[in-house]
Amino acid sequence: MPNRIYNFSAGPAVLPVEVLAEARDNLLSLGDTGIGIMEHSHRGKAYMALHEEAEALCRELAGIPSNYHVLFLQGGASLQFSMVPMNLLKSGLTADYLITGAWSQKAAIEARRCGTVHVACTSEDRNFCYIPKGCTWSAAPAYAHFTSNNTIFGTQFAKAPDAPANVPLICDASSDIFSRPLEISKYALIYAGAQKNLGPSGVTLVIIRDDLVERGPKELATMLQYRTYAEDHSLYNTPPTFGIYVMGLIFKWIKKQGGLAGVERANRDKAGKLYRHLDSGGLFRPTADADSRSMMNVTFVTGDASLDEKFVGVAKKAGLDGLKGHRSVGGMRASLYNAFPPAGVDALLEAMRDFEAKSA
Ligand SMILES: Cc1ncc(COP(=O)(O)O)c(C=O)c1O
Repeated sequence: MPNRIYNFSAGPAVLPVEVLAEARDNLLSLGDTGIGIMEHSHRGKAYMALHEEAEALCRELAGIPSNYHVLFLQGGASLQFSMVPMNLLKSGLTADYLITGAWSQKAAIEARRCGTVHVACTSEDRNFCYIPKGCTWSAAPAYAHFTSNNTIFGTQFAKAPDAPANVPLICDASSDIFSRPLEISKYALIYAGAQKNLGPSGVTLVIIRDDLVERGPKELATMLQYRTYAEDHSLYNTPPTFGIYVMGLIFKWIKKQGGLAGVERANRDKAGKLYRHLDSGGLFRPTADADSRSMMNVTFVTGDASLDEKFVGVAKKAGLDGLKGHRSVGGMRASLYNAFPPAGVDALLEAMRDFEAKSA
C-alpha cells in the first residue's frame, strides 16, 4: 500500500481506498473471467451486469422514480451546459439561470447560443460569496437552471429553489451529487461530472424525467439527443465502461455508509468542525456567508495573500495537498467530498492551529 496523503483537491478528487483497491484487483481480471474490467466488451454479459447494477444502485440510493432515466454520458458537466439548451431551448424561448458562480455563468453562455437567457438571480456583486435569497422569474421559462454547489466559491444551496409550477428545474450537481438525500421529483434533470463524488473523470451522470427526453429536436446530432441514451440504456455506442464500473462501486460504498443520509451526517461533521474553527476568531476566516456555506468546498483566507501562500506550502509539507484556493477567491479551499477521511480534517485543523500559534 503506497503512502497516501490527504488530498483536498476540488476534482478529480479523493476516492474511497476500498473502491480503488477493488478496481485495482479487477484490472487484470474481472472476477474469474480472465479479462480485465477495461478489456471487456460493452455488449458482453460480464460488463452488462455491472452496467445494470450501477443503474439499479443509483436508483435505489436516490429513490429515483420509474418515470426518470438514469444515463451515463461523456463530455463532462460542460457538455451538459450545451446539451440542456440544445434539447430544451430554442429561439423565441427563454430559460432562467440562477447565476451563483463561474460554472453557472458558463452554463448560461452556452444557453444563449440557443435562445434567450433571463438571469433569475445573481450573487456576482459580492464575488459569489452567498446564495441569493429569492429569484425573479421570467414570464414563461422553458426551464430554470441552477448549480447546487459552487465548487470555486464555497457556497451551496441549502435546498433546491422553488421554480414556478410546471417549470422544469435543472441542476448542475457536479460537486455535491449524492452528498445528501435528494428529492428527485423536484427536478426535471440533474447532471454531474463523476470526478468529485462519483468516481473517475470521463463519465457524466444524468437523471432526466421522461417527458424532457422527448422534447429534444430530432434534427440534433444523434449523440447530442438525450433520447439516444435513454432508448439504448446509455449503450448506443461504447460507453465509458471503466468509469461506470467504478461509479457502481462508489454506489455500493455509499450504501455501506448508511446511504445518502449516512454520508450527509459524515459530511456535516467534517465541514462543521472546520467552520467552527474558522468562526472562532483566529487567523483564518471563511469567505462564504454563514447561511450559504458549502459542505463540500470550504473556502477561507487569512486576509494576507503571502500568509495564505505560506500556509499552503507548510500544509503541503505536512502531507495536506491541494489546499490552494481558486485564483478568483484566493486563499485556501478544502474540498471535503464524501470520500475525504475525517482524520484529514483533524490533520488540517492541527496544521492551522500550529500555524496560528507560530504566526501570533
Ligand atoms: C459545479 C461544476 N459544474 C461544472 C463543472 C465542469 O465539469 P467538467 O470538467 O466535468 O466539464 C465543474 C468542474 O469542476 C463544477 O465544479
